[in-house]
Amino acid sequence: MVTHSVQSDLWASLGAYLEELKESGVDGIPANLSTAYFLNESSKNVASEFPGPGQNGSEIPLLSEKHETLEQIRKNLGDCQRCKLGATRKNLVFGVGNPHARLVFVGEGPGADEDEKGEPFVGRAGGVLNRLIVAMGLKREDVYICNIVKCRPPGNRDPEQDEVAACSPFLLRQLRSINPEVIVTLGKPASHTLLGCKEPISKLRGKFRDFHGIPLMPTYHPSYLLRSGGNSDSFWDVWDDMTQVLQLLKLPVPEKSRKK
Ligand code: URA
Repeated sequence: MVTHSVQSDLWASLGAYLEELKESGVDGIPANLSTAYFLNESSKNVASEFPGPGQNGSEIPLLSEKHETLEQIRKNLGDCQRCKLGATRKNLVFGVGNPHARLVFVGEGPGADEDEKGEPFVGRAGGVLNRLIVAMGLKREDVYICNIVKCRPPGNRDPEQDEVAACSPFLLRQLRSINPEVIVTLGKPASHTLLGCKEPISKLRGKFRDFHGIPLMPTYHPSYLLRSGGNSDSFWDVWDDMTQVLQLLKLPVPEKSRKK
């Protein structure tokens, strides 16, 4: 069952979202979308609110087909105070990279370094992610990198439900604008948020999931790899996951061999 507070959060976030869309020129939602669609069990997760890119024709279109640019979405966020993280952040961390990326990485939320610079994954975990991207034969500028929340949770705690609810409409709009061929979620909070499930990341990783027509690969968070070491089983699990991503994108898979 959806609890009353989850429903209120969803209504509040949906109301704000629709207001913002109106301001940014979106001219309506289909009349046949019922309230039940927003309040059913599956709307607990943001996955169910994502209108999807429409490749397989099966998604419910939430909005008219007008394409939003990332600049428009950033402008619409403004000096965001939609949740309590706005009061404590230094810089809002929107996302970085290619607006037409084939591959998007979604992390959890900015840490101290990201808060300082206004860019995702620029600290130690960012170093690990950068090395992974390079190991995949790609450049940071080729992909798009963002988080489920755009402002630093104090003390690097996990983002709270109301914060994710306030921020996720913007993440969904970013994903819809980019329309990538693959999404990689880094760690548990990002994977749970986009997939709307509670399975442990160790069970989720390694298999493509469907995010409204977009293949989504959950994998371990770079911070976890920092703790477990560069030649750990988890590191090689992540490499296996990225190998599958490269194969799906029909990109060459660089040869890597495990140090004994
Ligand atoms: N960890 C995250 O999940 N995101 C960042 O941007 C940095 C560290």
